[in-house]
Amino acid sequence: MKDISADLLVPYLRTRMLGRNLLAADEMESTNLTAAELASKGCAEGMVVVADHQTGGRGRNGRTWFSPAGRNLYFTMVLRPDCQPGLVPQLAIVAAMSMRRGLKCLCPDIPVSLKWPNDIWVKGLKLCGILCSMSCMGMKTEYAVVGIGVNVNLRKEDLPGGIQGSATSLGILSGSLWNRSQVLATILNAFEEDYDTWLAHGSLAPFMEGWNEASLLNGRQVSVGQGNVVYSGIVKGITEDGRLILVRGDGGTDLISAGDAHILSGLK
Ligand code: BTN
Repeated sequence: MKDISADLLVPYLRTRMLGRNLLAADEMESTNLTAAELASKGCAEGMVVVADHQTGGRGRNGRTWFSPAGRNLYFTMVLRPDCQPGLVPQLAIVAAMSMRRGLKCLCPDIPVSLKWPNDIWVKGLKLCGILCSMSCMGMKTEYAVVGIGVNVNLRKEDLPGGIQGSATSLGILSGSLWNRSQVLATILNAFEEDYDTWLAHGSLAPFMEGWNEASLLNGRQVSVGQGNVVYSGIVKGITEDGRLILVRGDGGTDLISAGDAHILSGLK
């Protein structure tokens, strides 16, 4: 992969730790898998693993992530937050906020929305996905890995039938070709800033206003499946610990911690 390397990334980086240590390869099964292996062997916080192509790119809820060579960004950050493990899933929401900020910085005209918990959508099509995992020992977080897939220079004709009507890319939206090292550095810069803010507060409180501004679901009737239970109601936002607030038809409230939300109706 000629266009992503430590040398090409550094001129764009404003970080103290993220991306200062980079593992870049042409092919990996999944950058999340490689990053988790490195983290379990003790690599330092801030390590970033990036691949040109993933043979087994992973998505949320057991799905796969379309990962062709030469077009997109597939990368994973290794973090070692000094916090209790229960707080770590909030990092997926922090990452979604950072992605939006980074994308706005690169391409101010694209209307980026966030779909709880951490999908990045533009005009009803998915632009990026985020997948996190963690390891803990009792009440101590050993590491978290935050993996991000961004469709960068993907063309419409590259999309397989199954996702043709549901995915987009920076290139499709802007009509131009993007420098992948610059896109990666911009996201790392935004995420490190947000990560520091999150660590200092220990909650999503500083992100609530931004979330409500960007949320695709607020005010809409949605259903969320969790195991055998399906919750439905109107979305009122998220809590400071990242749960979706659903107001049911009977006026009661459900707080949902995980799941895929399906929009049933409602205007934003
Ligand atoms: C989703 O389903 O929306 C999450 C997709 C996450 C994809 C990224 S690509 C880089 C990293 N490595 C993986 O195997 N998955 C994540």
